[in-house]
Amino acid sequence: MFKKSTQKTPKQAPDQFWKVLIVDDEPEVHTITKVALNEFEFDEKGLTLLSAYSGNEAKSMIEAHPDIALIYLDVVMESDDAGLIFVKYLREELKNKFVRIVLRTGQPGQAPERKVIVNYDINDYKEKTDFDSTKLFTTTLAGLRAYRDIMEVEAARKSLDRYRLGLEEVINASASLFEIRSLQKFARGLLDQIACILHLDQDTLLVRSNRWTVAESHSGFEVMAGTGNFSDATAALPQKVSALLTKASQAHTSIFENDQFVGYFPTKSGKVNLIYLDGVDALDELDKRMIQVFSSNVTIAFDNLYLDREIFDTQVEIIDTLGDVVESRSKETAYHVKRVSHLSRLLGRLAGLSENDVDVLFMSAPMHDVGKVAIPDRVLLKPGKLDADEWEIMKTHAEIGQHIFSKSHRPVLQAAAIVAGQHHEKFDGSGYPNGLKGEDIHIYGRIVALVDVFDALIHKRCYKKAWPLDKVIAELKTQEGKHFDPKLLNLFLDNMKAVMTIVEAYPD
Ligand code: C2E
Ligand code: SIN
Ligand code: SIN
Ligand code: FE
Ligand code: FE
Repeated sequence: MFKKSTQKTPKQAPDQFWKVLIVDDEPEVHTITKVALNEFEFDEKGLTLLSAYSGNEAKSMIEAHPDIALIYLDVVMESDDAGLIFVKYLREELKNKFVRIVLRTGQPGQAPERKVIVNYDINDYKEKTDFDSTKLFTTTLAGLRAYRDIMEVEAARKSLDRYRLGLEEVINASASLFEIRSLQKFARGLLDQIACILHLDQDTLLVRSNRWTVAESHSGFEVMAGTGNFSDATAALPQKVSALLTKASQAHTSIFENDQFVGYFPTKSGKVNLIYLDGVDALDELDKRMIQVFSSNVTIAFDNLYLDREIFDTQVEIIDTLGDVVESRSKETAYHVKRVSHLSRLLGRLAGLSENDVDVLFMSAPMHDVGKVAIPDRVLLKPGKLDADEWEIMKTHAEIGQHIFSKSHRPVLQAAAIVAGQHHEKFDGSGYPNGLKGEDIHIYGRIVALVDVFDALIHKRCYKKAWPLDKVIAELKTQEGKHFDPKLLNLFLDNMKAVMTIVEAYPD
């Protein structure tokens, strides 16, 4: 275990030494200790012997060298209890629980109380006269061994903490990825999260391979997102990148090679997603394990995303079809529906809705008048003013629209039910069909109510002329807090430039 050194190498790296601090006001003690421990080695590491000649010097020493493993500490120095004051400082203030301490006193009878030895975790207590060089060897060995064991436990604990923290990051990262709809955004987010988990700032690349077979794989990579040198996702893949991608794809497994990592994520849909990371040579086992955990989450997320896309696409298709029906029946132009949709999105964003909610609103807003499919032509297409009976019939379009969608649990269709059912409710409670008031009207309903009226006024209808913009704005203002949510109205009016850009983009 410890042996007389026969090494010829004159210098070892600094971390190849155990630091031992000698604290004593008698210089001879230092000299004797140094001579006795001259060739000491433990666990293939030598000793660095540091000296302090008072309790105060000892404080500076331990502050400068927090990795001191063992201290030989004199009790009586500048004061009778200078050594004990130092120990108290070390354990209580510096909270250094690791360093081992051997107390040495000049005279018998100066033994510190047992309480001190226990409370300050002192390893050993010896009278100076007890120390011959063999004793010094064995005491040092015991002290360093204890220190080593403590530090190993500590390292394991730290690593566990890091693992736990990393896991939390992984779980949070995965959770937030689940909320992202677009595959492209998801891919970007994924790269960011991986870089964050690994504390990387390197080139990363996410590609998707639609091919399973070896022969096709060289042309089967489609870049979805990239960072660093790969931020131009359309650029051709460097040879070394595509080579490793191909390798992982053929091996059906993630690969760490040199400083590169390729993550391999098959999904249920049969597609394979690959992540390429550069400059990852510093990854330790823990990082790799973390990536594995993250990867399995990501695979699930990908599956959901593809599934989600299918459902989503189906919803969009249904909505487009219904939109066409409404347009052809009520002779409102396709552009009215588009404008309402875009204006709703604009106002939704201004109102601070989440991106997902804004998306859902964008897709459901064109459905607001879908109930008009059930209104007879003589009412719907009447060139002049409606009489009381006709008006009662016309008003049913809101509830009819709501019923068309209310059976579906799909988010976009549920939103369409809300929009259709509530777009004629008024903020002061005087609207139809239910006389809902204020924030009892869903934000989607309040938004569409406003943009629908705005768009109906500035355009021509079979029963009315188009109004000039200033008259439209004046009319909207008279309805602040009556027909319209004041907050939404003001956001809308404050952003007329953006509003008119949309209006002009889709002229009748
Ligand atoms: P729409 O044409 O899409 O109009 C939507 C909303 O814009 C109307 O909801 C109303 O709040 C507002 N709006 C439209 N034109 C005017 C107007 O000249 N003055 C004012 N102050 N607001 C206007 P509302 O009133 O619930 O009507 C719902 C739907 O009933 C209208 O949808 C339209 O299809 C129909 N409608 C309403 N009034 C008449 C009418 O006099 N003749 C005919 N043929 N249809 C009407
Ligand atoms: C995307 O949503 O941005 C990508 C569409 C796809 O390839 O499915
Ligand atoms: C927006 O959504 O922010 C307005 C632009 C648009 O809908 O086309
Ligand atoms: Fe309507
Ligand atoms: Fe409308």
